[in-house]
Amino acid sequence: MSVERIRRFLSEADPGTPCLVVDTDTVATRVRELRDEFPHARLRYAVKANPEPAVLRAVLAAGGGFDVASPAEIAACLDAGASPAALSYGNTIKKPADIAFAWSRGVRDFTTDAPGDLAHLAAHAPGASVSVRILVDGPASATPFGQKFGCEPAQAAALLAEADRLGLDAAGIAFHVGSQQPDPGAWEPGIAAAAKIFAECATRGVSLRRLNIGGGFGITYRSAVPSPAEYGREIRAAVRAHFPDEPEILLEPGRAVVAGAGLIRTEVVLVSTRFGRRWVYLDVGRYNGLAETENEAIPYRFEVPDRDGARGPVVLAGPTCDGDDVLYQRTPYELPLSLRAGDRVDILDAGAYTASYSSVAFNGIPPLRTHCLEGGRLADDP
Ligand SMILES: Cc1ncc(COP(=O)(O)O)c(C=O)c1O
Repeated sequence: MSVERIRRFLSEADPGTPCLVVDTDTVATRVRELRDEFPHARLRYAVKANPEPAVLRAVLAAGGGFDVASPAEIAACLDAGASPAALSYGNTIKKPADIAFAWSRGVRDFTTDAPGDLAHLAAHAPGASVSVRILVDGPASATPFGQKFGCEPAQAAALLAEADRLGLDAAGIAFHVGSQQPDPGAWEPGIAAAAKIFAECATRGVSLRRLNIGGGFGITYRSAVPSPAEYGREIRAAVRAHFPDEPEILLEPGRAVVAGAGLIRTEVVLVSTRFGRRWVYLDVGRYNGLAETENEAIPYRFEVPDRDGARGPVVLAGPTCDGDDVLYQRTPYELPLSLRAGDRVDILDAGAYTASYSSVAFNGIPPLRTHCLEGGRLADDP
């Protein structure tokens, strides 16, 4: 449905390439599907996946709130009509000025993972609710976080006790299993670790209530991933197994909400054969939208709307004069042998982590433009 609506818009408006078109009705549908799987939970859409105002409005209309990571994301959500109570500041890396900005705009929920950040929260967001992010392993994730975020689980209870001592509201535990996580069992170790920390905090007189299971829900690019229902079933079972009383649950999906709602239309700039391989250069690449092709992590699906016939292997590359701007040279892709410069190529399920990662103008190439459809028509944002 969403691809049809997007292609109809592209053929009527012919907006020029490259561009991302997002069907916001699909965004709202995805939010509702995920909310149905976690009926007692609060959904906080991870704004970094796609911060377009029309996307934010669709999330709000479907009953979602927002996981924000910076003052600019807070401002965008409030401008889209969100109440500050629907926002949680999920980024553990923030300056005191960022915290003060969030607090001044009414944001009261924060995630932290280090004593330094906790001290800044106590100083600039007095009395705020704080969840401590723990590091969990999610080896199957296509884009894992490594060790950048999250304290060791053994340190969490002490941090929460310190939050309590500093006059903050020690709310609970957060974790993230890594983005594009195809294993619904990946949440269980984090849920189990959280339950232990709840119990340890109780012995210190600190009563926790919140479990933030993060994002990570995968979407089908070239390989199938579990359905929202399958993720929901395993995660709910893990919560039941480890928590005698169901905690307040928060989830922070980004990719699963917006990826499938977007299509990037691109144009072939050059087709060239070197050392026996056919190289196809598109007008979109690593720096103007396809950052997640780094290490060939996300294997997008490509469609050529105007050419049929025999296909052959290709290396896919972007338009800049940077040697790293190669999309896929190990992942096997085949495109029509008749493909020529000027042909249109569509990239499916490209609504998440594309335009939002686009550089300002590397090589003078502008950031990826986004057009949002609301009810099938162009949203009238500036
Ligand atoms: C704290 C936090 N929550 C949620 C998300 C969204 O994750 P995903 O897009 O995999 O659902 C991210 C992604 O980076 C994140 O850092």
